[in-house]
Amino acid sequence: MRAGNPLYRSVRDPTGTIPVVTRAQGDPSPPDRSVSLEHFIGMYEAKTDPWDNATKWSDQRKYAVTTASLLRPRYRRAYEPGCAVGLFTRQLAPRCDELLAVDAVPEAVRQAAAAVSDFPHVTVEQAILPADLPAGTFDLIVIGDLLYYLSAGDLAALLRGLRERLEPGGEIVAMHYRDRSGATWDGAHVHDELAALPGLESAVHHDDEWFVLDVLKLRR
Ligand SMILES: C[S@@+](CC[C@H](N)C(=O)[O-])C[C@H]1O[C@@H](n2cnc3c(N)ncnc32)[C@H](O)[C@@H]1O
Repeated sequence: MRAGNPLYRSVRDPTGTIPVVTRAQGDPSPPDRSVSLEHFIGMYEAKTDPWDNATKWSDQRKYAVTTASLLRPRYRRAYEPGCAVGLFTRQLAPRCDELLAVDAVPEAVRQAAAAVSDFPHVTVEQAILPADLPAGTFDLIVIGDLLYYLSAGDLAALLRGLRERLEPGGEIVAMHYRDRSGATWDGAHVHDELAALPGLESAVHHDDEWFVLDVLKLRR
């Protein structure tokens, strides 16, 4: 946690034990450092499902809109960075021959692996991005509610790494919370960065009161 950083308000949870880092409202800049692993570990220590992804209607709706927006019925090899507890991983699994899901937090990896234990073609691993980008290429990359935690440098490195791993004709799908309250660094900003990668063309753009979704296809 970074006391005094103007990009962040540092507060503590009601129990006073878990560091909470939030960006100041109205600041459209990325953080100067990526949100730390310790921060996310603390969130999983405080709560099994830190973002209530399993119970929030906004997330269930986001998953449904996302699966409906995938351009093809099936994919050869998919990659899902920041899979959290594996809720979307489970929905993606039946559409893929092979799926690699990763998260930085060991507890998230454990829960996600349990969530897809009946899908032998799904692998769940710990990976801290952008350092631990995977080997090989993918025809589908799905990244949800992760990019805005990264510094400008890490974001650029991750997006470049994802683009390099995308097969011609493959899709990068991103869905992120959109803050309607102001110009805070949010889904709209990180999706602009993603859409600026070379060679990608927009196939789907969805923008609603809660989230922004983009399906970008790499030209052949
Ligand atoms: C809001 S959750 C993602 C939700 C999930 N993608 C979904 O759609 O249900 C963000 C996840 O990203 C993980 N994460 C944050 N920074 C990361 C990094 N640098 N590398 C890998 N995972 C990271 C966190 O541990 C957390 O589980």
